[in-house]
Amino acid sequence: MPREKLSIELRSYAKINLFLDIEGTREDGYHLLCMVNAKISLHDLVSCSLTQKPQINLTCSDLHLPTDERNMAYQAAARFREQTHLSKGMRLHIEKKIPVAAGLAGGSSNAATVLQALNQLTYDQIPNAVLAEIGTGIGSDVPFFLEPGICVCRGIGEKVVPVSFPTLPKEPPLYGVLCSPAQHVSTPTAYRMWDELSHPSHASVQPLLDDLMQKNWSSIPSHLFNAFEPVIFKEYPEIHRCYQLFQDHSPTPPRLTGSGSNLYSLHTSEAEARTVAAALQKLGLAIHVFYLIL
Ligand code: C5P
Repeated sequence: MPREKLSIELRSYAKINLFLDIEGTREDGYHLLCMVNAKISLHDLVSCSLTQKPQINLTCSDLHLPTDERNMAYQAAARFREQTHLSKGMRLHIEKKIPVAAGLAGGSSNAATVLQALNQLTYDQIPNAVLAEIGTGIGSDVPFFLEPGICVCRGIGEKVVPVSFPTLPKEPPLYGVLCSPAQHVSTPTAYRMWDELSHPSHASVQPLLDDLMQKNWSSIPSHLFNAFEPVIFKEYPEIHRCYQLFQDHSPTPPRLTGSGSNLYSLHTSEAEARTVAAALQKLGLAIHVFYLIL
């Protein structure tokens, strides 16, 4: 019997949507999506250990976040215990760096990381496909975080196909600037507002997929798309203001991620990203520089 690992600490990455189109609605009201999602270097740290007491004990550095059943990381731990009939409890801690309600899927990422951490602590007994099934019941972005790198996500987000690269570049091919407006967006509200649009805009994902396959990094910024932008920019003036400032100071077009509130731009050089970030910081905007995780 291998020696039991007692605790583990894993990175829980944020995501951006390089592409997000809404293609239809399911009978239960969920929307059918076509997304290209990318993990970025911005991450929380999730630490996890098994305990003899059967309770789930979750703590978080952000004291505003719930640490009970309302937290997706807690839900992941509870479902993992049920699935594996684990008699032990667990102690979880999240060191939070990813802005919340920001379109960066921090909650889904934390849930996926908890599933991976618990699986590693219990000898990888659950196959990834089963972890993804558990994850889908918690949040539609969870399965994406169980796969590596950039993925095409369809259905409600649960049909995930990684974009694989035969050889990975030594340096990150794309850097980004993340701007966090001081206005939060509720995802269900954003979908409701999108439902009310009479002429929603759509785009083809193919040019972006071609860029990725051909590693045509410099043309990726011009093929990004997010169907939520018209409603979010109309209903959230602070996000629109940040978007306009971002547009004025970036050589590449900024985009919304998820249903917002965060905006990002992509650049082929770190120097260009840092120049854009410095200009926006001078204007008082909350900025973070990141790179894409392939
Ligand atoms: O699963 P997730 O937490 O991302 O979803 C939050 C809410 O966003 C859902 O309750 C639903 O109202 C909406 N949603 C949707 N279609 C999706 C994903 C989410 O309508 N594909």
